[in-house]
Amino acid sequence: MSRIVTLDEFIIHRQKDFAYASGELTGLLRDIGVAAKIVNREVNKAGLIGILGRADSENATGDEVQKLDLFANDKLIECLRNSGECAGIASEENEDFIPLIPVAGKAAKYVVIFDPLDGSSNIDVNVSVGTIFGIYRRVSPLDQPCQKEDFLQKGTELVAAGYVLYGTSTMLVYSTGRGVNGFTLDPSIGEFCLSHRDIRMPDRGNYYSVNQGYYLKFDVEMRRYIDHCSDLNLRLRYIGSMVSDVHRSLFQGGIFLYPNTRKYPHGKLRMVYECNPLSYIVEQAGGKAITCQLQRILDIEVHHLHQRESIAIGSPAMVDEMREFVARYSAPGF
Ligand code: AHG
Ligand code: MN
Ligand code: MN
Repeated sequence: MSRIVTLDEFIIHRQKDFAYASGELTGLLRDIGVAAKIVNREVNKAGLIGILGRADSENATGDEVQKLDLFANDKLIECLRNSGECAGIASEENEDFIPLIPVAGKAAKYVVIFDPLDGSSNIDVNVSVGTIFGIYRRVSPLDQPCQKEDFLQKGTELVAAGYVLYGTSTMLVYSTGRGVNGFTLDPSIGEFCLSHRDIRMPDRGNYYSVNQGYYLKFDVEMRRYIDHCSDLNLRLRYIGSMVSDVHRSLFQGGIFLYPNTRKYPHGKLRMVYECNPLSYIVEQAGGKAITCQLQRILDIEVHHLHQRESIAIGSPAMVDEMREFVARYSAPGF
């Protein structure tokens, strides 16, 4: 049996892949790994300690907030604050970004964005949720507090992104732009261990994932594509947690769609906290991610921290096919 490789060992080993790497990014990824373990511990015993349920508040985008959303948010901020490698954070749960005070006077080069708990409507019924994160190198002067522009960079500028899925087992999947690797938490030793090396997304798969309940609220070209998926007898799976649905597509092939609807004319999912980091990972694994207006997600200019976009993300051949349908059925005069 080959020896196990822990997340920390793997991250340190990979540091030498980056010219001039000084260990800051490595340290930051390890700190995110620690925060993930703390959140995992609470998610796993949520029913026992009275932190299920709503927190009687709404977040920056008006969604109902669960108590565990706030717990996960606080833990991530706390770990990154103590890390010393993070100049500031922006979270789906906060209206604005939060600059962090340098630790021991050292100017940090990176900022971190995250969705502390994705799919939180699933928490109370024991269905998978996740944490999504992304890391940008600052564009503002290092001797000053971080600025909003540091967080409003295009997805192409991400230096790392990942997610943690609190599912039947807990997995951390991340990329620093050289492929995607997955780690499974071994609870007996409390370590994330390398379990899925160099993940490649299948060219196509048997699943499509969309909230079909909104079918009549989608544009006609999107309805035609969804009809096509159904004609092909693809299996519909929709967990209600993007990170879980994208995780399935990453391993088994498939497409996840959250089109613009009448309620959300620009789509529901957030560019900064959901679309960009997951698109980065999917592209790194050989997949594709575009808007329902057919623009590559990672190329989109980001103007607001809570900007929303429509998205089609998944196996490359399936995203290409969706693109053809949308182009054909939205052509003038069709
Ligand atoms: P969050 O729990 O972070 O607010 O995100 C929920 C998102 C996404 O994960 C999921 O795919 C989608 O919202 C579900 O929305 P609908 O209930 O409208 O389908
Ligand atoms: Mn989310
Ligand atoms: Mn969330």
